This record gives sequence, C-alpha cells and structure tokens, in this order.
Amino acid sequence: MRTVSINMAMTIDGKIATAARGPVALGTPYDRRQMQVIRAEHDAVLNGSTTFKAHPFPLHVKGPALIKKRLREGREPQPLSAIVSSLLELPKNTPWEKAAGAKRWIFSGNKAPLQRVKWWESRGVRVLKGKGARPSPLEILGAFESEGIVDLLLEGGGELNAAFLEADLVDQVYLTIVPKVLGGAEAPTWFEGQGFKLPKRFRLDRCRKVGDELYLRYKKSR
Ligand SMILES: NC(=O)c1ccc[n+]([C@@H]2O[C@H](COP(=O)([O-])OP(=O)(O)OC[C@H]3O[C@@H](n4cnc5c(N)ncnc54)[C@H](OP(=O)(O)O)[C@@H]3O)[C@@H](O)[C@H]2O)c1
Repeated sequence: MRTVSINMAMTIDGKIATAARGPVALGTPYDRRQMQVIRAEHDAVLNGSTTFKAHPFPLHVKGPALIKKRLREGREPQPLSAIVSSLLELPKNTPWEKAAGAKRWIFSGNKAPLQRVKWWESRGVRVLKGKGARPSPLEILGAFESEGIVDLLLEGGGELNAAFLEADLVDQVYLTIVPKVLGGAEAPTWFEGQGFKLPKRFRLDRCRKVGDELYLRYKKSR
C-alpha cells in the first residue's frame, strides 16, 4: 500500500457528529468540494457501517475535471466504494446499493450469514469475509492490494479510523476544523476505539485558512 489517508471534518470541540450518530452537515460547500479533490487522489474509499447508515451513498468523485485527472494518473474513473460491516446488517434500497457500474465492496466478519452475503452479491457487490468476527485492517489492506489498489482513503467514522490508527497503518490525516461546536461526552471524535497509552506524533504538513474554516494535513512522523 502506498498511502492510507483519513479525511474528516470536526467542530472546534473535536466532534464529528452528535451522540445519535445520524447525519450532520458540518462543512461549507468549499469543504465538500475539497472532499472530492481528496477522494480523487485515492483508488478506494472506505466507511464504517455506522457512517454508512447515516450516509448510504457511493463515495464518488464528481465533475469531469477530477475524473479526467484520475484517468491521466492511470486510475479508474471512480474510486472503489467500500464498507466494513461484521454481520451485513445494513439498510437496503439505498443509493449505494443502486450505484451499479461503480465497484462496491463490503468487508464482513466470519459470522456474516451466507444468505445476506448472497443477497449483496446479487446486487453486484463483492463481499469479502474476514477470518475473525470483524474484518481486520490488515486483511482489508491485503484485499485491496491484490486488486492493485495502492491509495486508500478512510472517510470515518471514528471507530473505523481507530482500527487503522491503532494498527499504525495511517500515513496522513486531512482535517477540516469548522467554526461550530457540538459538545456532548457521548458525541464521537474522529479517533474512537481504545486509543494509545502515550500520544503518537504527527507533523503538520499543510495549513490553510479559507473563510472561517481551517484545512490541515498531518503526516505520520517517521
Ligand atoms: N464529520 C465527519 O467528517 C464524519 C465523517 C464520517 C462519519 N461521521 C460520523 O461519524 C459517526 C459514525 O462514527 P462511528 O465511530 O460511530 O462508527 P463508524 O466508524 O462509522 O462505524 C463503526 C462500525 O463499523 C463496523 N466495523 C466492522 N469492522 C470494523 C473494524 N475492523 N473496525 C471498526 N469498525 C468496524 C462495526 O459495526 P458492525 O458491528 O456493524 O460491524 C463498527 O461499530 C456518524 O454519525 C457519521 O455521520 C462524520
């Protein structure tokens, strides 16, 4: 794998959603455009199942200029759109399910019922079963690599990001700080999971202010 990136928008108080974990609009249209620009630099985009339930859309790139740039760089016109879901308990009849034409994968755990696997496969989705109850980050990277996917973008949420951060597999983090607060001890941040015993260092590689938003890129310190 060449790069594993995370891209998230967070409030001034470090939150990415409310405790209900439903959809919440945080960034400006400019931020949403930046999301597309960042997606365009990756071969695949991955979401956790909770994020998918809040936003069940294909993780596509919009606009002919970005698609042309991808083709020039030898990439597919659209990034592969993938989800992690242990038991495939996912909403049906969503725009993601109906986005035929684009490659869609679901990484499941070993207890995912065969009937559900078959149902998703009948919708043109490739289901990759892991060895454990949850698909592991290393299994996920291995499956992507065997498909020639070298640049992976994690678009949250905090639990998915945590699995990759805790396995030390994240190279860079794009963060947009939006001028809002959400608060709430139960509201997620972009890094959930168990966390580290000692802080892990990243270095600030890029910093831009656009209106009231800050666009940051951090790289893993080597
Ligand atoms: N502000 C932003 O930029 C932004 C971006 C993305 C999401 N969000 C928000 O974040 C919230 C969701 O975040 P979240 O942390 O609650 O959940 P999440 O990371 O989206 O999804 C976590 C779920 O994914 C499944 N999963 C399967 N294998 C996994 C693995 N190896 N590691 C981790 N998860 C695995 C598990 O559910 P199963 O038991 O179903 O397998 C797990 O509970 C939503 O409110 C969403 O809107 C905000």
